[in-house]
Amino acid sequence: MAKNVNLKKLISNMTLEEKVGQLIQLNAVSFSDSAAEITGPVQKWGIPAEWINKMGSTLNFSDANEMITIQKKHLENDRNGIPMLFMMDVIHGYRTIYPIPLGLAASFDPELVYECSRMAAKEAAAGGVNVTFTPMVDYVRDARWGRVMETAGEDPYLACVMGATQVRAFQGSDLSDKENIAACVKHYAAYGGAEAGRDYNTVELSERVLREYYMPAYKACIDAGVKMIMPSFNSLNGVPSIANKWLMQDVLKKEWRFDGVVISDYNALGELKVHGIAPDMREATKLAFANGCDIEMMSNGYYEHLCTLVREGVIDEKKVDAAVMRVLKLKKELGMFDDPYRGADPEREKALALSPEHRAIARRAASESAVLLKNNGVLPFSKDVKKVAIIGHFADNNEIKGFWACHGKNEECVTVAEAVRAKLPNAEVVTAYGCAPLWNDKSTEGFAEAIEAAKNADAVILCLGEPQTYSGEGNSRADIRLPGMQEELAKAVMAANSNCAMLIFNGRPLVLTDVNECPAILEMWFPGSEGGNAAADLLFGDSVPCGKLTMSFPKHVGQCPIYYNHPNTGRPKWTAEDVHQAYASNYIGCGNRPLYCFGHGLSYTKLDYEAMELSDTKMSAEKPLTVKITVKNSGSYAAKETVQLYIRDLFASTVRPVQSLIAFEKIHLEAGEEKTVTFTVTEEMLRFYDASCKHVSEAGEFVIFTGYADHKYKEAKFFLE
Ligand code: GLC
Repeated sequence: MAKNVNLKKLISNMTLEEKVGQLIQLNAVSFSDSAAEITGPVQKWGIPAEWINKMGSTLNFSDANEMITIQKKHLENDRNGIPMLFMMDVIHGYRTIYPIPLGLAASFDPELVYECSRMAAKEAAAGGVNVTFTPMVDYVRDARWGRVMETAGEDPYLACVMGATQVRAFQGSDLSDKENIAACVKHYAAYGGAEAGRDYNTVELSERVLREYYMPAYKACIDAGVKMIMPSFNSLNGVPSIANKWLMQDVLKKEWRFDGVVISDYNALGELKVHGIAPDMREATKLAFANGCDIEMMSNGYYEHLCTLVREGVIDEKKVDAAVMRVLKLKKELGMFDDPYRGADPEREKALALSPEHRAIARRAASESAVLLKNNGVLPFSKDVKKVAIIGHFADNNEIKGFWACHGKNEECVTVAEAVRAKLPNAEVVTAYGCAPLWNDKSTEGFAEAIEAAKNADAVILCLGEPQTYSGEGNSRADIRLPGMQEELAKAVMAANSNCAMLIFNGRPLVLTDVNECPAILEMWFPGSEGGNAAADLLFGDSVPCGKLTMSFPKHVGQCPIYYNHPNTGRPKWTAEDVHQAYASNYIGCGNRPLYCFGHGLSYTKLDYEAMELSDTKMSAEKPLTVKITVKNSGSYAAKETVQLYIRDLFASTVRPVQSLIAFEKIHLEAGEEKTVTFTVTEEMLRFYDASCKHVSEAGEFVIFTGYADHKYKEAKFFLE
């Protein structure tokens, strides 16, 4: 079927069953060759072969070969010759894995995010992927939630930038280009607002907070042209997203005019029964379809009930035709009617995976995502060091790719020990496990060996964290400290040798309070295939840390949810951080501030913010404000720095955050170099949602500052007229 396929005519020739087939997505095992292998939905739901041949898309297949096999068999059996769509979670890499999105966002480098996403798109397209369930742009404030690892953190503006960048990178300018794949923004909406940070839990948020914080990034992705959207599992203000009229119809279709494909999350229709919203799959089908769900992923509502509902006149077949049209239009845009196998190419898939060029991108991304939380001067270590002790679960462990690492393999990740040995061929590198990073493993039998190794070393690298299975989907934690006996191990090792730096491998902000006396702490996230090399580059000064946190690190889990852009309250705490203040908004025994806040990240060089100049002390919609910030590298290392610009709206009709990031720019400074960054502040950047959810700016006084949350390097005031 050629490029100019007439979709209307095609649909008019399809039976109702064939149309509904286009709206069903089953996992790849459903299309396996041998009946013996057929498990899962086909067996569970008793779907006959003639239906299987009608299915419009699949997910979670293994590679280009499998895509080609399934597509070929499908086309031999599909009366209309409509190719299937092949979808996958290519979240932070297909086979060459770069840092988890919470880490990559810390690079504050949209160009780097673009480059990584392009690499993933090329590898995935060669692997037969047509659509990726990316970007995940859920806004978050609670580190107990395991899926914070997939997000850009607690700032809505940054989430918009990172989400839209990924959409543009994956989709390119022409979706028929076989190196581009369609993107699917998720999880619409406010999945990250789960109560108590517990995955899939209830979300109750005002429309104003939704519009101000939780929803802008989905809209930014739609404005960037995303082809698909995935509603979230959670109930939002009492109604699960997939059945939520306000969310799916009033906002998505009418207000935002989204005309792409809506795909449910995995069995989200089936979960409507569990939520108690639908008594059975017939009602779940009615609800989901009525609210615009085009493709049902991995549940049997549309298979069992959609044809009947049409034949009973409950659902208008024209609406089915419209849903099918959206799906077929995407297939046509992808060029699948011309080439159903599109970019699938086993040889190219193999050649691209972990190629030197791709490993180099992953290494740079891992380096620029790392955040130097603390450094009393022990870093960078000298390369002349004779004996290095690398201690902890992650010392020589390749499980650093993260929870959503697609086809990435642990064994293809470079460990810290491997990397240090490669960098220091003449040094003696000793590793010691110390203890397990498991919440219920209290064993200290590895301590003696670890302490001995530390005592005998010139430099000690602690490699601690949480297993990659402690974050990601379904993996929430009520206690977000270093699990197991790692805190005790760290203290014992630090006591044995003070020339010690700590690397943290994690999928969320952790409570590091009890190990914070370590002279240097480098946040590595789950850095992916080149994590060990990036860590060694940073530890020994071949690269200079430049990451900035995009999510607050609490002092105590009891502070969660904790975020930098919080309102002031009527009784803000004025006393010193560790002094409880009576009748104020604070805790006994714990301050309000995080241990490390949004925007924090150190360098090896000394960066001085010399000046901040405003073009005027007042601005208006007609007359934007120009802000010039001069930064000098007064140290001895060339370095990158993210210049951050914040405002505070001092008085407005609704409470405003004590600070909001409105712009940032990452610059490179040679040692001794000085640069001036110029920002333009427009009236639109000062808008917010007022009590009636109108997007407005209000005249009045603003504070503007550079630095990072709560740390003002330079500040000034201006008036919006
Ligand atoms: C999962 C996730 C979603 C993912 C989908 C397909 O349950 O919630 O993010 O894209 O299923 O794997």
